[in-house]
Amino acid sequence: MTQANINDLNPYLHGLYAPIKEEMSVDKLKVEGEIPRDLHGGYFRNGPNPQTPPKGMHHWFDGDGMIHGIWFENGEARYRNRYVATQDFQANGSNGMPGIFEPSRAVSGRSVVYKDTANTDLVFHNGNLLALWYISGQPVAVDASTLETIRTESFDGKLPCNISAHSKVDPKTGELVFFDYALYEPKMCTGTVSATGELTHFQEIDLPGPRLPHDMGMTENYVILHDLPVVFSEQAIRNRLWQIHVADQPTRFGVVPRKGGAPKWFEFPTCYVYHVINSWEEGDEVVMAACRMVPNGLKPNPEFGPYAAMADVLALRAQPFFWRMNMKTGEGREEQIDDVLSEFPVINNEFSGHKARYSYHVIFEDCIEQRFSGLLKYDLSTGQSARHDFADGFYGSEPAFAPRVGATSEDDGYLISFTANMNGQSEAHILDARNITAPAIARVTLPQRVPAGFHGTWAAGV
Ligand SMILES: [Fe+2]
Repeated sequence: MTQANINDLNPYLHGLYAPIKEEMSVDKLKVEGEIPRDLHGGYFRNGPNPQTPPKGMHHWFDGDGMIHGIWFENGEARYRNRYVATQDFQANGSNGMPGIFEPSRAVSGRSVVYKDTANTDLVFHNGNLLALWYISGQPVAVDASTLETIRTESFDGKLPCNISAHSKVDPKTGELVFFDYALYEPKMCTGTVSATGELTHFQEIDLPGPRLPHDMGMTENYVILHDLPVVFSEQAIRNRLWQIHVADQPTRFGVVPRKGGAPKWFEFPTCYVYHVINSWEEGDEVVMAACRMVPNGLKPNPEFGPYAAMADVLALRAQPFFWRMNMKTGEGREEQIDDVLSEFPVINNEFSGHKARYSYHVIFEDCIEQRFSGLLKYDLSTGQSARHDFADGFYGSEPAFAPRVGATSEDDGYLISFTANMNGQSEAHILDARNITAPAIARVTLPQRVPAGFHGTWAAGV
């Protein structure tokens, strides 16, 4: 079998996931319904979009980062999409950095051994979007009005490490609270960059071995680092098993003072967590809500050939849990919130790090491919949820919560998601976050298909 037809079997290069070719800028998009006039700002979503057809074995996570943005103002909408011009992207393959199905490549002076795509996540900090990568790479500052890459961000050359996807912005202080991890070294790092871009704190945390976390928690005074029983393994990846090597050890969460200090570690039954819902402080407890992985219970599809194992791992299924960590007694408690399967949780980011009542998760179509058929809105105080199914065969992206201009309560705002159907049509759907079971209040026709991707965010007033 030649490499070309190997990728004919790769489900994450076709259909909802197929890369697109054009970078577009289109104003005054067609709308069905009405865009609320108190919706002002941009919804942005990052994801993989290989610039050229992959020649060898290709993991969905390897694609070059592309950001899709839609801006709303005065009841109108405009759209753009642009690649994230990381240093590896600008080298356009000439530096030969590999994807994760290939052997890593050590390069003197850099810690990243795979192609750094910044394709995973977005945060809005100091007036710019920062595109972040799940293997922890160089953050890329992107203009929130044009999506043009501004620079590889080093914070005036002071950043001593990489920054992982799912680093967070504190909505009260405007600080970027970041973490970094290493594929081969037994450590993680965490630190803070001020609202104006000055590195104000940095520390390293020793671990028993290298770990592969995906997210972190942030509260007013702490970060919560994840020491999960999963490590990176090139051998496993080449056997198409991705990173999964579950060591015989518990899950640990390390609560680290944001201004510096030793972590306090809490042990819990073994599990893996991709995405944190939110974290906060409550009395003596630091509480983290997150999606705890469960077996997907799906049948691998042999038609995917060498990509069957990759697809199996990507069909991530999880349930929401609380982990409560008592900083005085050192005791930890794990509590299940619900048994419904969901993932890609978001909240009103103005409540990030503080107790929030509501979270919004994607729900999955019952198939081995990762398709988001709807959304759940959780009331975390009761575990009750309300459901929205995307209309007419459309599948969604991770949504973002956009507070209504003049909002008076936590859920007073809109949920926005890019959607696509199997006919190659895409729309942005705007839901009333207070009533998500209702049909979308506006469906905005997009000028091209937005491929399924990773994480989204909202930036007000841009
Ligand atoms: Fe993620």
